[in-house]
Amino acid sequence: MSTEHIVTELQDRVLTIRFNRPDKKNAVSSAMYNASADAFSGASTNPEVRAVLLTGTDDCFCSGNDLGDFLNSGDAVGAAVGRFMRSMVDCSKPIVAAVTGPAIGVGTTVLLHCDLIYAGEKTRFQMPFVNIGICPEFGSSLMLPAMMGHPRAAELVLLGEMFSAAKAREYGLVNDVLPDAEVHAHARAQALKLAAQPPQAMRTSKDLLKRWTRERVKEVIGVEINHFVPMLKQPEALEALGAFMQKRKPDFSKFE
Ligand code: COA
Repeated sequence: MSTEHIVTELQDRVLTIRFNRPDKKNAVSSAMYNASADAFSGASTNPEVRAVLLTGTDDCFCSGNDLGDFLNSGDAVGAAVGRFMRSMVDCSKPIVAAVTGPAIGVGTTVLLHCDLIYAGEKTRFQMPFVNIGICPEFGSSLMLPAMMGHPRAAELVLLGEMFSAAKAREYGLVNDVLPDAEVHAHARAQALKLAAQPPQAMRTSKDLLKRWTRERVKEVIGVEINHFVPMLKQPEALEALGAFMQKRKPDFSKFE
């Protein structure tokens, strides 16, 4: 499935996958999930692809799931989201992320499934799942505590506040923080280095790094989706999503 909001380009054996919907801060629609899933699955099987570079537009990496889709078509979103997530978890080629501007919701959790992650100094991360009346996704309920310990994972998920690139590095979410203008070139240079490595050793090594947790992560993704899709229809999420659409602050004071 294709959409102009996901741009792919294969050059020098590096497949670039770009979130390209700048007027909506690269919010991910179901069509974008499906197009990205096709791109990651294609990268896994295409011998011409040795590495993937995942990026956004200059002023925004990704503002997370399209909140209008969450409000209007939760079940369809669940199917597309699941397909996208599995395609990344199963991707046999190394994935490098170049992150500048906001990286929110799935814009942060997608990084848990990349191999090398480079962020700009001004990048702001956020996992506002609780804030909008839903719960963590993309295996993050398993992977965040495993990566950074429970207190740090709880801080990021339960408070749901924006956090800096420096904190993302301290907590182990990104490899390096660079001046914003240098992020893309550096990430591409790293992807080119990966693409120059012996391909079979690369695939085997990535497989081994992921093999021990891959099936568990996919199981967790399914459990999380089974929670968050029904939560989208609950009053807390309806209040949060309605408030976003109406550009007002949500009011959760009436909920028990
Ligand atoms: N879904 C749908 N539309 C979104 C969106 C999203 N996740 N994020 C941004 N947009 C839209 C805005 O509604 C706005 O559309 P409009 O111009 O038609 O009004 C446009 O993108 C620009 O967003 P705006 O909020 O004006 O830009 P900003 O630079 O002030 O802030 C963000 C950028 C990303 C910090 C802010 O838009 C935001 O917090 N978005 C929601 C993030 C979120 O909660 N994601 C879901 C996580 S599960």
